[in-house]
Amino acid sequence: MTRVWSGLGPAVDRVRRRTQAFWHFPDKTVDLHRDESVYETLYEGHARAIEGDEVIGGGPFDLIGRMELSVLLMEGLAPTDTLLDFGCGTGRLALQAIPALVGGHYIGTDISKTILLRAERHIARAFASPPCQISWIHQRTEAFPLADDSVDMMCAFSVFTHMEHEDSFRYLTHAIRLVRPRGRLVLSCLPLDLQAAREVFLAQAKTDFRTRWAQVRNVTTSRDFVTAIATLAGWTPLHWYPGDQRNIRPIDGDEPLAFGQSILVLENHSRPS
Ligand SMILES: C[S@@+](CC[C@H](N)C(=O)[O-])C[C@H]1O[C@@H](n2cnc3c(N)ncnc32)[C@H](O)[C@@H]1O
Repeated sequence: MTRVWSGLGPAVDRVRRRTQAFWHFPDKTVDLHRDESVYETLYEGHARAIEGDEVIGGGPFDLIGRMELSVLLMEGLAPTDTLLDFGCGTGRLALQAIPALVGGHYIGTDISKTILLRAERHIARAFASPPCQISWIHQRTEAFPLADDSVDMMCAFSVFTHMEHEDSFRYLTHAIRLVRPRGRLVLSCLPLDLQAAREVFLAQAKTDFRTRWAQVRNVTTSRDFVTAIATLAGWTPLHWYPGDQRNIRPIDGDEPLAFGQSILVLENHSRPS
């Protein structure tokens, strides 16, 4: 974490000395030098400040979940698969995916215990007897507590949009161990070829470093950059669903819609099947 500071000049060093790198926000304090999981601290603060499903962002909760499941089905999700929903939030995808996983296994992980509990509550209320196995994991680091080759498909919707590229790379590197050979990872991101991403970038650029990292932030990128780091992590990129094209028909929906974020599909060719 200290490396974040290096090279940012004497002004930042002065702030660091004065504040000892303590960032303040609603009811939690981030210490960039000592905090073991800055992302966790940020997301927990966020979860305590924002009630309900709003914590994972606005938009039509049900429709977005149906679009997410639709992509996974197009990418070959089968009823008996084990699906890892990394950064599962309050259960937007889980509510849709669990009925589709008949005889399979849904695993939801999240860095925020508070958010994870909201997902668990949603699912307990929605399914008296779920058709598949369900696991919830409070995941505090990039070391996924799952066995090698134990996952058929993994997704990360709107998760790498909140971390530095180096951290996305760390998660991608670990993930390839648990996704089986020829298994897929479906991730969304905010490349700057999207107008919406350019707006996010400009809004973030209005604030200084300290302000940006005092809260959960939105990280933009480019398709080339994400493709490159996924490849460096050992994944084989397959294709994109550009976020501004109407290319996803939500399950039970009539019209194809644009997801908003662009979606990259990766496959694990790092080991023989
Ligand atoms: C914008 S929400 C998206 C939730 C969900 N994927 C969906 O599409 O409904 C981002 C979620 O990712 C989680 N998250 C962020 N960074 C994470 C990390 N490093 N490890 C696990 N979860 C993380 C957050 O706590 C939050 O619940």
